[in-house]
Amino acid sequence: MPDRTIQFLPHELGPPWERVRVEVDGELVSWMQTFTVGHRLRGVTLDCAGVVGVHTDDAHQMQGHMRFMLEAVLERAVARGVPISTLYGVPGLYHRWAYATVMPEFNFTVSTRRAEALPRSHRIRQAEPHDRPAIARLYNRETSGISGMRVREPERWLGPRQGLYFGRLDAWMQVALDNRGQIVGYCIGDQVDHDAQQLDIVDAQAISSGVAGSLIRAMADEAVRHRVGKLVFHVYPASRVGRYLRNLEVTARSERPIGRSQMVRLGLPDVVLQALGPYARKRAEILGSGLPSRLVIDTELGSGELPLGGDLPRHRVRLPSARLAEVLFGYRSAEELRDIHGLDISASDADLLDALLPPIDAYCYWPDRY
Ligand SMILES: CC(C)(COP(=O)(O)OP(=O)(O)OC[C@H]1O[C@@H](n2cnc3c(N)ncnc32)[C@H](O)[C@@H]1OP(=O)(O)O)[C@@H](O)C(=O)NCCC(=O)NCCS
Repeated sequence: MPDRTIQFLPHELGPPWERVRVEVDGELVSWMQTFTVGHRLRGVTLDCAGVVGVHTDDAHQMQGHMRFMLEAVLERAVARGVPISTLYGVPGLYHRWAYATVMPEFNFTVSTRRAEALPRSHRIRQAEPHDRPAIARLYNRETSGISGMRVREPERWLGPRQGLYFGRLDAWMQVALDNRGQIVGYCIGDQVDHDAQQLDIVDAQAISSGVAGSLIRAMADEAVRHRVGKLVFHVYPASRVGRYLRNLEVTARSERPIGRSQMVRLGLPDVVLQALGPYARKRAEILGSGLPSRLVIDTELGSGELPLGGDLPRHRVRLPSARLAEVLFGYRSAEELRDIHGLDISASDADLLDALLPPIDAYCYWPDRY
């Protein structure tokens, strides 16, 4: 029997990052990186095990090494009480470990010419490393109410390490300033290839619509410098920049991927449901009478419950944890899962879940999808 070992090693980025290596008879066969990060979900913040850069050497693929590595990482996270895990998945792979896609992709395309006509009320300059804490705080304030967002710890955030598509391009950052020199907005863009057809913006936050307009205008000036005819903003539609863009002459696109892209796994459903207890209780108060005292949800990865405070006896529903992840992150209603995807759940249970956990759009900006 070959001797297979796994090691968790320090990462060049420092904690909470770790490098993971799997060796067989002393030869490196698989590797990845992992880290713990806070994640927003319906008003609470959950610890999350990020999974990134999963790889098995070509000569050693399809021998179960990645399965061994990922399962060890997930078990370790669960043992530490980290209730969820996220990753950006290639198609058709991660459903095996109960990861589910939980958020749409959004983008807004605007012509450089249209964006060039916007007024610029705020000064914009290139961001410096010492701006990062202020940028992280601004980001946290603007996104704290949006599910799917990661928390950027102001003193630890390293700035954007990539734009779209992981390391293919370096990201750059510009900030907007008020008349006292305070940072009131920022934009993160992909580095622009010499043959680029468009300028991609992967995160932009602004504290007012004036700042949003100034940032879009500055990006138009950048597009002119690079001689590209359009700007593509990959931003959350309800953000200030998203709302500003929606009122321009833009093409807005959203896509709802399945089994790929930004995915979540509920490793500890009981911890997640407990954290969402107050949210569910509030929803139950709005719904009024005729509710069970508690809703117990059983999954193959464990059970948890939502306290509803109703007069009826405790009620149980069973669903796969990947489907529960879709409902919790608001990607699909239980009714859609039942009617379209054949989920085995009664209509009344689906109604109850949808009333407690209504569909929402979760989102994670590209620079946080390490
Ligand atoms: C994807 C990758 C890490 C798989 O590594 P591996 O060690 O060959 O995987 P394993 O042998 O442990 O296979 C685990 C399971 O995934 C399946 N699988 C392996 N590679 C797959 C792929 N590319 N697509 C879909 N399924 C795949 C296997 O059939 C196996 O399924 P089963 O256990 O249900 O039978 C490897 O092919 C790789 O390094 N690819 C290039 C980088 C990449 O795409 N990484 C993923 C980034 S998100």
